[in-house]
Amino acid sequence: MAKTKTAYYCQNCGTQFAKWQGQCHTCKEWNTIAEEVVSKEKPKAWEAEGNDRQDKPRRIAEIDPRQTPRFSTANPELDRVLGGGLVPGSVTLLGGEPGIGKSTLMLQVALSIPKSVLYVSGEESAEQIKMRAGRIGQDKDDCYILTETNTQKMFGNIRQLNPQVLVIDSIQTLNTQHIESSPGSVSQIRECTSELIQFAKKTDTPVLLIGHITKDGHIAGPKVLEHMVDTVLQFEGDRNHAYRMLRAHKNRFGSTNELGIYEMLSNGLRVVDNPSELLLSNNNEDLSGTAIAATLEGMRPLLIEIQALVSTAVYGTPQRVTTGYPSKRLNMLLAVLEKRAGFKLGAKDVFLNITGGIQMDDPAMDLAVVAAVLSSNVDIAVAKHLCFAAEIGLAGEVRPVPRIEQRIAEAQKMGFESMVISKHAKLSRKIAGIELIAIGKVTDLVKHLFG
Ligand code: TYD
Ligand code: MG
Repeated sequence: MAKTKTAYYCQNCGTQFAKWQGQCHTCKEWNTIAEEVVSKEKPKAWEAEGNDRQDKPRRIAEIDPRQTPRFSTANPELDRVLGGGLVPGSVTLLGGEPGIGKSTLMLQVALSIPKSVLYVSGEESAEQIKMRAGRIGQDKDDCYILTETNTQKMFGNIRQLNPQVLVIDSIQTLNTQHIESSPGSVSQIRECTSELIQFAKKTDTPVLLIGHITKDGHIAGPKVLEHMVDTVLQFEGDRNHAYRMLRAHKNRFGSTNELGIYEMLSNGLRVVDNPSELLLSNNNEDLSGTAIAATLEGMRPLLIEIQALVSTAVYGTPQRVTTGYPSKRLNMLLAVLEKRAGFKLGAKDVFLNITGGIQMDDPAMDLAVVAAVLSSNVDIAVAKHLCFAAEIGLAGEVRPVPRIEQRIAEAQKMGFESMVISKHAKLSRKIAGIELIAIGKVTDLVKHLFG
């Protein structure tokens, strides 16, 4: 009998070692190295005779990029994040926290895309998937469900069915019999992914993989997984809120600056075409402590509402609590307000919230954050027709932010009459229809807001 060969792999970064050791010297994690069985000979998992792509050296000038055909997934936000649709033969990895809606999104795509789809699930039973499809309320003839975790059996089914799109839920549940370690281990994930990549490239079938993430937000399994696939998408959002954001972390076929926004409803994920409309509460009363920031998420302008509450601290140490906003940045802005504008907030509790449960860290929100804090502090509402877009420096100077014209256009579209920006902002054209208030220092903002 052939001797079984084993090797040691770091379960965090995937580095291979000849023998066990306590710390991985590549990623410096402790206790992550485990023994896994590897088999030397690797029979080809996918051999599609005759449809091998021809690859000969070609002059770069002769290559026509328009020959990369794409097809729509019938899900406009996903198409946008993918860079204009799904590319044949591409492998896309979708990561996200448990319960965020990865399976829902993929099933919705499987049910709406005008192609035959095989949805392979190692996590749920066919009945569970059917129940979810019932909730989504879509039906389709050529969407097939397979509950299988063994790749050889899965490929057997694929040969018979010949689907045009393959969805795997999830890569961590798959195992190949060429490797004896358990599903979800580094060598299994790597081997299954490479089998799927081979399959995708040889048959020009797009493959969509769902991947689990670890508690610190990375895709579970080796980092090489992210290197191997063509596109890595991340599905994020706060589980207590309905909004979900889809971002590309890596994309070989488009930019990583696009953002897709969904709303989780009782009948599945709904595409949000005009996010600013949803994120702004249509409150007609004048409430203090609220200000609107014109931010940019990737390439997409987004108007968001920032709420602040400033109150006298009850306990000795004042609290600084933020939701959806970096607390370090809030501390910095409070220090600037204290030093450069003379507001003594050192003995006050400050709470800051971005409404809608979304996470943002665009520095262009600085001015709106400061306006919300000041407004709550003096209990005077910020004028309703006003929005803000500028960064604040440590000297209390108001600095320009990138793509200001795009932000102005979005504010105008949403019906704002005035916008506070930095006086150093460079505008390439004259803006009509919205009043631009250009300021140079934080103290100018105070004067402008409260006279
Ligand atoms: P799921 O897609 O299973 O998440 P993941 O695969 O990322 O773990 O679904 C997550 C949650 O979405 C689930 O807890 C219930 C909720 N949900 C809805 O609110 N509406 C729906 O129509 C569906 C299908 C799910
Ligand atoms: Mg799932």
